[in-house]
Amino acid sequence: MSIQGKVALITGASSGIGAATALKLAANGAKVGLAARRADRLAQLVSEIEKAGGQAIALEMDVVDNASVTAGVAKLVEAFGTVDILFNNAGLMPLSDIDMLKTDEWHRMVDVNIKGVLNTTAAVLPHMIGRKSGHIVNTSSIAGRKVFAGLSVYCATKHAITALSDGMRIELSKKHNIRVTCVQPGAVETELYDQISDPAARQQMDDLKTQMEFLKAEDIAETVLFALQSPRHMDIAEVFVMPTQQAW
Ligand SMILES: NC(=O)c1ccc[n+]([C@@H]2O[C@H](COP(=O)([O-])OP(=O)(O)OC[C@H]3O[C@@H](n4cnc5c(N)ncnc54)[C@H](OP(=O)(O)O)[C@@H]3O)[C@@H](O)[C@H]2O)c1
Repeated sequence: MSIQGKVALITGASSGIGAATALKLAANGAKVGLAARRADRLAQLVSEIEKAGGQAIALEMDVVDNASVTAGVAKLVEAFGTVDILFNNAGLMPLSDIDMLKTDEWHRMVDVNIKGVLNTTAAVLPHMIGRKSGHIVNTSSIAGRKVFAGLSVYCATKHAITALSDGMRIELSKKHNIRVTCVQPGAVETELYDQISDPAARQQMDDLKTQMEFLKAEDIAETVLFALQSPRHMDIAEVFVMPTQQAW
């Protein structure tokens, strides 16, 4: 199924997987709404997409703030008419052990990784339901399938996204003709580790980069495109994408 002319909202579009997916979808003819908080990054990306002949709009949006999400979706609909594709991708992973009691970071992960997805989905769904058509792609993780030390809260948020994705598929697919895909990447080279405040945990993740070849953000963009382009009758419900050298 072609995504030519489809309107896509991408959260977390200012870097990493979101930015790579925005470039990929725009290059394949989609009109993309780029949502994140760093407006300078979004403006750069819009200009890159437009220079390549694509269409994009910057949506300065904090997925935790419902009013901000509603305003961003309204701006996108005003510019491009509707929303056909939602890529719920904004997230953060400030890892640390539970006994360090970094409660602010726990709450932030719950707010962005779970509530952010709920806020954005709620703002977009009426447009999809109204047209009886749509595709929602949620970024979970290998951490949405397994639990790792130092990642308890992050894993809890990503397990929630894996569960939510399956529930959304069950409730939205037949009834509203909305496909739902849960993407579960292993280690991807992005800015995700910049949020880690515990020096030992940060060192551990930096060391990992010297031990194996990470996926590139473009690899996940390619995966998202594959799911979106699958035939109308086919829903790629879950995709687990790993670096070949990540054997755990
Ligand atoms: N990298 C990996 O190894 C890996 C593996 C599996 C899953 N993932 C998941 O992939 C997704 C994308 O992460 P990434 O690896 O591409 O890291 P990244 O480069 O750090 O991207 C994270 C994105 O989330 C956005 N974001 C954070 N808080 C936000 C908020 N409150 N409102 C709106 N946007 C917000 C950031 O934009 P602003 O700061 O500009 O708002 C940024 O664009 C995340 O859900 C992550 O959990 C990553």
